[in-house]
Amino acid sequence: MVENRFIKILQQADEKKIGVGAINIFNYITADAAVNAAEEIGVNIIIQTSAGTVEHYGAIKLYNMINDIRKGRNIEVALHLDHCRDMELGKLCVDVGWDSIMMDFSHLPFEENVSATREMAIYAHERGVAIEGEIGVVAGVEEDIVADEAINANYEETIQFIERTEIDAIAPAIGTAHGVYKGVPELNFTLVEQLGKGNTPVVIHGGTGLSADVFRKLIELGGRKINISTLVKNAYMKKIMQLVKNENINSPISFDKEVSKAVSEAIRGHLEVFSGMKHDFGV
Ligand code: 13P
Repeated sequence: MVENRFIKILQQADEKKIGVGAINIFNYITADAAVNAAEEIGVNIIIQTSAGTVEHYGAIKLYNMINDIRKGRNIEVALHLDHCRDMELGKLCVDVGWDSIMMDFSHLPFEENVSATREMAIYAHERGVAIEGEIGVVAGVEEDIVADEAINANYEETIQFIERTEIDAIAPAIGTAHGVYKGVPELNFTLVEQLGKGNTPVVIHGGTGLSADVFRKLIELGGRKINISTLVKNAYMKKIMQLVKNENINSPISFDKEVSKAVSEAIRGHLEVFSGMKHDFGV
């Protein structure tokens, strides 16, 4: 197993039996707001970006931006690539020095998922970078990855997947969805509990919209990396929509500060629940 920030953050979370927020960011304001939220309450954080965000800004620019934001902080901040299906893009992030990559070949048949993920695990590990893999189908929309129907992962197959790929974190589909939930999702807590007993950290995708109680239960059972994306986008857009109607704010810096504060508060509420500091978001 490689030793790096991503692994260290998840190992520490496991020792403390807490969850780490893995927050999707898409620009400087959201990245800085997420790290500020974590630093304010003294918890480590994983900053992640979609493959589309990397294509938009470039792997080197994003790496430099996060390196600058995390400099001098009193918490650990790891940089992670989320849901990547393009091997060349994954390898580029590895070469540039990102801490970890998630290669998502969960849409392929089992054997193909194993071999593609294994190939990327070898590449990443040889360069000191960690890797997350996915099995089953997480419903919803995550940029250009769209799935109408969830297919929960199966325990035996997931164990085989972990052993054969030698990944550092496992994202099993458990009934969560990317985006906004239409009702209360039915989750496979048993699978999280079974996998939580193993040595490979369990990743929970589709965090936005789950209740604090559900997060607590998932973390108690072994969920360690908790992915949050839609919450960040919504907090960002909602504040911008409010501000454009407010004629008193006419300086870009004041505007950005307000947006940053709103994003940071939304994230902080979740990080407090993940780390067991509070029982509900912002309460
Ligand atoms: P949400 O957009 O539902 O928070 O999901 C985030 C996620 O799982 C990113 O991989």
